[in-house]
Amino acid sequence: MARGLTDDELPAGVRAFRAGDEVGILAAMHRMHDRGELEGVDRPFLAESAERMASEPWLVSVAEDEGRLAGWVAPVHDDLSVDLPFRRRGHGTRLVEAGRRMAAATGRTELRLWVPHRPDAEAFARALGFRYQSSLWKLRLDPTTPVAAPAFPDDVVVRWVEPGADDAAVVDVANTIFLDHPSPIQLELEHVARVHAKPGFDPSTLLLVAPAEDRERIIGFCRLGAWQDDAGELVGDVRLVGVVREWRGRGLGRQLVRWGVEALRSRGAGVIHLDVDSENEDALHLYETLGFAPEVEWPHWVIPVGDGR
Ligand SMILES: CC(C)(COP(=O)(O)OP(=O)(O)OC[C@H]1O[C@@H](n2cnc3c(N)ncnc32)[C@H](O)[C@@H]1OP(=O)(O)O)[C@@H](O)C(=O)NCCC(=O)NCCS
Repeated sequence: MARGLTDDELPAGVRAFRAGDEVGILAAMHRMHDRGELEGVDRPFLAESAERMASEPWLVSVAEDEGRLAGWVAPVHDDLSVDLPFRRRGHGTRLVEAGRRMAAATGRTELRLWVPHRPDAEAFARALGFRYQSSLWKLRLDPTTPVAAPAFPDDVVVRWVEPGADDAAVVDVANTIFLDHPSPIQLELEHVARVHAKPGFDPSTLLLVAPAEDRERIIGFCRLGAWQDDAGELVGDVRLVGVVREWRGRGLGRQLVRWGVEALRSRGAGVIHLDVDSENEDALHLYETLGFAPEVEWPHWVIPVGDGR
């Protein structure tokens, strides 16, 4: 099945992602990172983003300038960037139009982008008609902040993911949990299966929770990541925590984060990060009571799609 928009469906000057584009995109990301434009983003995360684009090419469109890659838009990742040498030539404007068409084609009513707190980015977003919506906070837990060990209630069981066998159930439960989330996330089975099938995938980075009386039914999970930061220190990341609605309010989220912190620290992580939307007040409160503190603000702005602009 063809996915994403074809070149003909995109504005002039923008085309669908092609295999190999990730190389130019990663090089452009590195230039932006070196210039300090990507506040709060560690370098290894860039390679991961570029790799993800290559594995889900239908989520990305690319601007070209005389045959050279000038910029890209990936609405699902809230990402629109124009490489330094190609700015103020209208590529950003064309990429916004492409992003709106891509968002509309997947049934979204808005195009949402990360707009860093910089005058150029904010001027661009304002000129194009975006409005501020909410911020994603990158929270930080210091290595010395004590966090209690997890203690899950007796009516649940926890286990690590079984790659392959659990993939579809993980996607289902994550998509159910994050459907009405302030920053909706939609996982695709293909992507999750690919990540889980990688030779280096460590099942002990994904903890699943199930009711003790129905062990096949996943009701919550916590996914971890870790990488060397720009100074070479191992940094932990509590990437995704979720509990299905019927099981919320019983402390499972708190135990899942405690488990994540303990697991990351036991692997040598110092600082631990966690991202949370500013509108998700309950989650923010939970993480703050565990010792996480706001470190970087990533504002998100939106523009409606499909109004014929
Ligand atoms: C923000 C960014 C995407 C703009 O891309 P671009 O291709 O230069 O944008 P355009 O040429 O289409 O500019 C459209 C309008 O935005 C405004 N604008 C863009 N850059 C600006 C700047 N540096 N200062 C002030 N206004 C700016 C202007 O009104 C411009 O119209 P004009 O050139 O006719 O005056 C680009 O600078 C970039 O990738 N920055 C780093 C990543 C980033 O911040 N992404 C978030 C984007 S929402």
